[in-house]
Amino acid sequence: MANDQENKLWGGRFTESTDAFVEAFTASVQFDHRLATHDITGSIAHSRMLAKVGVLTSEESDTIINGLGDILADIEMGQFEWSIALEDVHMNIEAKLTEKIGSVGKKLHTGRSRNDQVATDIRLYLREEIDTICQQITELSKGLLQQAKQENDTIMPGFTHLQTAQPVTFGHHMMAWFEMLQRDYDRFQDCRKRVNQMPLGAAALAGTTFPIDRAYSADLLGFDQPCLNSLDAVSDRDFAIEFTSAASILMMHLSRFSEELVLWASAQFNFIDIPDRFCTGSSIMPQKKNPDVPELVRGKSARVIGSLNTLLILMKSQPLAYNKDNQEDKEPLFDTVDTVQGCLRAYNGMVPALKPNRDALRKAAFQGYSTATDLADYLVKKGIPFRDAHEIVGKSVAYGIEQNKDLSELSLPEIKHFCDVIEQDVFDVLTLQGSVSARDHLGGTAPRQVLIAIENAEKMLAKRL
Ligand code: ARG
Repeated sequence: MANDQENKLWGGRFTESTDAFVEAFTASVQFDHRLATHDITGSIAHSRMLAKVGVLTSEESDTIINGLGDILADIEMGQFEWSIALEDVHMNIEAKLTEKIGSVGKKLHTGRSRNDQVATDIRLYLREEIDTICQQITELSKGLLQQAKQENDTIMPGFTHLQTAQPVTFGHHMMAWFEMLQRDYDRFQDCRKRVNQMPLGAAALAGTTFPIDRAYSADLLGFDQPCLNSLDAVSDRDFAIEFTSAASILMMHLSRFSEELVLWASAQFNFIDIPDRFCTGSSIMPQKKNPDVPELVRGKSARVIGSLNTLLILMKSQPLAYNKDNQEDKEPLFDTVDTVQGCLRAYNGMVPALKPNRDALRKAAFQGYSTATDLADYLVKKGIPFRDAHEIVGKSVAYGIEQNKDLSELSLPEIKHFCDVIEQDVFDVLTLQGSVSARDHLGGTAPRQVLIAIENAEKMLAKRL
């Protein structure tokens, strides 16, 4: 990056040159050059609009648009030299335009300001990144559906308080993650509506004296509509806060999946195998295979939640309209996009490749008296009030613990001892299979319901793309 003292585009009223440190301190091109393609897209639309309303001739506009096209090609080939002296992406591109096409390049900035320009660029950028994230979420959703389908009747322990509670199916567990992701998808889609509004035309803060056609620019850029108040348009970054908030909630969900995968991959649980290509070893302990991908995703949720915090505090108490504070919005936003996309990419590789260990899952479900509620429900169906049934089962469990037997391993006389309404048919409900199959209603864990949920989910995803 060059640091020569080029002439500043705003230098007219200044009598001394900028302090070298201040120049670097106030510059943003080191990071906002990432907005370059969107900046050029916005400038092309602006130039077209200026020609439409007669502020530029169509020859001038064409010259500008061709020049911008050349600059885009230079940038894409890595042949554009960014200059800190030119402060930001906007002035770097504008200065290069004039260098390439002569003084007609100086007309591009008519009727706009960097304030509406940058707000437009960020929205164009974010709209594109939201679309990528939504596609990645859909792909991950499909990976979960695949696992759910394969394991729709694989029995595992369901937990509350991380203590064995009731048996569930692995498919049902995958579909719980699936549901969380659909809400994340909806949140991003909803946020996209408010991202897709166009600040361009707000100029510095009050609008412009030129007869601009904002609806035309919005149309060219694919925005739903122009922002309706110029002061608001250049100042608020609530759309970025909303995005980072949706991203934080998604990362919170991924951190929960991650935590479970880390636990499940441990020797103590042994519920799943994470293929080697998603794990790493230890430099000292030769036996180790560490679940690095889920651990890192769990850890990376911290930086996204941190960015949400940064953006909220950045915006808080800012008076209208634009303030330089807002230059600080970019790094947390870019980092959020990179982090979320990276985590989703890693998950998209890993989730379909996870190998559930069916025997270990079933064995674990068999421990911890996971069918105790089924016994209580059985007694209620035979006319015992639920509170009494709860007490009876509690005593049976205590007896089972003493005998080191599961409820299903007790003999009929042993179990009848606690309540004489119990008959042979009790063993149908005490088995793991009986327990899960009995929860056969909308949202329940029965394999039949899991298959219905998968089918509905597949129909829903088919409509999406
Ligand atoms: N680099 C600035 C930003 O990111 C662009 C807008 C600057 N506007 C200004 N009047 N200084 O916010």
